Amino acid sequence: MPDPAPHPSESDTAPRRVLITAGPTHEPIDDVRYIANRSSGRVGIAIAEAAARRADHATLLLGPTHRSPADPRVTVHRYRSTADLEALLAKHFPACDLLIMAAAVADYRPKPAPPGTKLRRKDTALTLELEPTPDLLAAISRLRQPHQTLVGFALEPRDRLIASALDKIRRKGLDYIVANPLESMDAETIEATLIASDGTRRDTPPAAATGSAGMDKAAFGAWLLDAVANR
Ligand code: CTP
Repeated sequence: MPDPAPHPSESDTAPRRVLITAGPTHEPIDDVRYIANRSSGRVGIAIAEAAARRADHATLLLGPTHRSPADPRVTVHRYRSTADLEALLAKHFPACDLLIMAAAVADYRPKPAPPGTKLRRKDTALTLELEPTPDLLAAISRLRQPHQTLVGFALEPRDRLIASALDKIRRKGLDYIVANPLESMDAETIEATLIASDGTRRDTPPAAATGSAGMDKAAFGAWLLDAVANR
């Protein structure tokens, strides 16, 4: 069956090569355990599907989640750890026009255990030593070409939402950041403020059906791509 034609309002800009990251990371403790977070990958998957609908070339770097895009036009590469994602970004970032970094990347990871290790139970307390992960977005923004647009996410407590997001946009050298409260993680909806590097802000509209503050994550994908279409 031929691909359905893209919706007119979704195809009125030239196709872009959009690279999206989504989902949690799993940082191994030993061969059978890991440290993770509650990210479901929904937002990044929704953005990738919205990009494919508007005839952009959508590549999704997707973490360990049971979700995956339904649209076969999205090219998916799977990762597990921050190190895997770092390697995939090094490979795919140079060819993209727009990077949307929705992945919930770990800030710390256990120091690597030798392969074939399984920690044994003891009657004493166990201390795990964690090392900081590299800031992937900050590193990649130092390699960017002038035509490349970078969008980050900031998941924050509400009382620090905008201040922290503004700090991250500057610290990581981004064009935009999506500031969203902690409640957005693993939820059906997202209530976000998109902040541009010049400080201009745009809030997501309320969900059409319910009038609630959060926007359906599927609709958010198209909203975000429209908002960052023309830098
Ligand atoms: N990010 C990244 N590499 C990391 C951590 C985060 O590239 N090691 C990216 C995320 O994908 C997101 C943005 O940076 O797009 C902000 O992530 P966040 O966890 O909110 O910020 P941190 O840099 O981890 O700062 P903090 O711990 O102070 O919130």
